[in-house]
Amino acid sequence: MSSFLSLENISFVYPNGHSALEDVTMHIEKGERVAIIGQNGAGKTTAAKLMNGLNKPTTGDVWIDGWNTKEYTTAQISRKVGYVFQNPDDQIFHHRVYDEIAFGPKNLKLSEQEIEKNVHEAAEMVKIRDLLEENPYDLPLSIRKFVTTASVIAMNPQVIILDEPTAGQDKMGLETLANVIDQLVEQEKTVITITHDMEFVASNFHRTMVMAHRNKIADGDTKEIFWNHAILKEAGVKPPYISRLSQSLGLKEGILEISDFIEQIKKEKRG
Ligand SMILES: Nc1ncnc2c1ncn2[C@@H]1O[C@H](COP(=O)(O)OP(=O)(O)O)[C@@H](O)[C@H]1O
Ligand SMILES: [Mg+2]
Repeated sequence: MSSFLSLENISFVYPNGHSALEDVTMHIEKGERVAIIGQNGAGKTTAAKLMNGLNKPTTGDVWIDGWNTKEYTTAQISRKVGYVFQNPDDQIFHHRVYDEIAFGPKNLKLSEQEIEKNVHEAAEMVKIRDLLEENPYDLPLSIRKFVTTASVIAMNPQVIILDEPTAGQDKMGLETLANVIDQLVEQEKTVITITHDMEFVASNFHRTMVMAHRNKIADGDTKEIFWNHAILKEAGVKPPYISRLSQSLGLKEGILEISDFIEQIKKEKRG
């Protein structure tokens, strides 16, 4: 039985001959939230672009909600899978935030009323409702990221892929982002997040996939992965600071966050 979203034995070779993925298999269910981690060049973005049809597999198949991506255009697939680019400037091309967010819904041929509703709801979710009349290019990177996030949310896709969403975000931006992910999952959307920010993974994702040398080398419980030295070393990834501290203190396995750490220290003191 196939999953809601699956990559089946995918390989992907870029037109210049560079092989970016070799025999990769991934299964993701509806309403799941998954983090994808791994060093630069591991193939994370290439995999994401296979999921939304920007890339088509060289060998293997990508399935989205019963569709084989080979049989559909990128435009058709983008209605089901929205991808928020790592660099917002690769995505933004309007000079007014409202127009940028309205572009997708307009292409979906929604009514003027629905377009307005979608734009306002998406802008509300990412907390940029006051900025709809601004020129995106006048806004800082952290806000431009939210503009592109809103423009994907406004199309109401079933799957949303966020590529390095924490880049440039301060504490408030990170909270907004965590809240956006919670809301999307509540709406039964699937949220896939590519990130270097291990603290962000620890506090927002129970499931993590680790990529290294053109493949997926681990997939499972974030706690188990962040305590698995061999995998992290192979992937060149450092677990959250608090996990490293807990490990060097010889504390119970699976500590990812300050709250777990404090709980465990209290127990040790009592015991
Ligand atoms: N358009 C492209 N043409 C050729 N090679 C590319 C292209 N885009 C990415 N690559 C290469 O493919 C590999 C995987 O890249 P990417 O998927 O962007 O990795 P990640 O997102 O994990 O940093 C890297 O070696 C990268 O240099
Ligand atoms: Mg990338």
